[in-house]
Amino acid sequence: MYPLIRNRRLRASSAIRHLVRETIITPSDFLVPLFVVEGKGVKEEISSMPNYYRMSLDKLEKEVLELWNMGLCAVLLFVKVNDNLKDNKGTEALNPDGLMQRAIKTIKNSCPDMLVMTDVALDPFSSYGHDGIVTDGQILNDETSEVLAEMSVSHAGAGADFVAPSDMMDGRILTIREALEDEGFHNTGIMSYSAKYASSFYGPFRDALDSAPVDIKNVPKDKTSYQMDAANRFEAIRETQMDIDEGADIVMVKPGLAYLDIVREIRNEVDVPIAVYQVSGEYAMLKAAADKGWLDHDSVMMEQLISIKRAGANIIASYFAKDAVQIMS
Ligand code: PBG
Repeated sequence: MYPLIRNRRLRASSAIRHLVRETIITPSDFLVPLFVVEGKGVKEEISSMPNYYRMSLDKLEKEVLELWNMGLCAVLLFVKVNDNLKDNKGTEALNPDGLMQRAIKTIKNSCPDMLVMTDVALDPFSSYGHDGIVTDGQILNDETSEVLAEMSVSHAGAGADFVAPSDMMDGRILTIREALEDEGFHNTGIMSYSAKYASSFYGPFRDALDSAPVDIKNVPKDKTSYQMDAANRFEAIRETQMDIDEGADIVMVKPGLAYLDIVREIRNEVDVPIAVYQVSGEYAMLKAAADKGWLDHDSVMMEQLISIKRAGANIIASYFAKDAVQIMS
């Protein structure tokens, strides 16, 4: 007696494996996060994110052209703001000549077809490291949404193609959409961080931007009153559906690897494009293990990326984008 069905026939050679491969990654799947700082000629490595850098505008310009030539055609911008410019309301975020606004213009000048998405949240601008305005130990929801809407209009005015609110305030997508419409930015898109979990995987990112919540009286030390509880799945669907109803063009699940079940559930529920953010801690884990010789960097990286797509993501925001594209070509 022999098995009539042998699944191994479809694995017998490289050619047949390629022929039946269900999931494929291409450079155009990636959204590349970029960290921008003031200064000139600055390209400084982030200590908890080996081989990833904060860059001043001149270096950013070079980087973006390099990405474009590699086939990477979308970036997600974050700025590191000097401490003396931070306050509770994120006032500097609205400065028409602020770092973010200048970064958008720099990219659009030198590489006009590069898709520019911008992070919209108060934390890099907040003296407390929170995504919202803090009063009496509370993160104010509606007041924060108003600032986020003004920020979005400012980014759109500077030339951003998409704004990406990463704050998790309730109702902010509608507030932002209405503000963009009021100002005539009908074609500026919104990528909503819709299912964003209160995750400890964001540690290295907070190092990169020096944006961790501070430890002072009457200020919550973590983000659990607005970001989601890692234990919840129905809530992720509810959050995502609400953001779509409010006008989100693209939704997001964040972090990636530990939340791929959520990606699949959302893929099964909604028909808008889904982005997954493979976050800083995921990057740091692999870099550290590979550095010790405990994991093979490139193959584990590709396995993680393919898993994100297989789970149902259309877009992958990843610090590995360049590494991955180098392997693909
Ligand atoms: C903040 C923001 C965070 C990330 C993206 N936007 C950190 C946070 O919520 O504290 C994390 C990204 C990463 O870890 O790579 N609005």
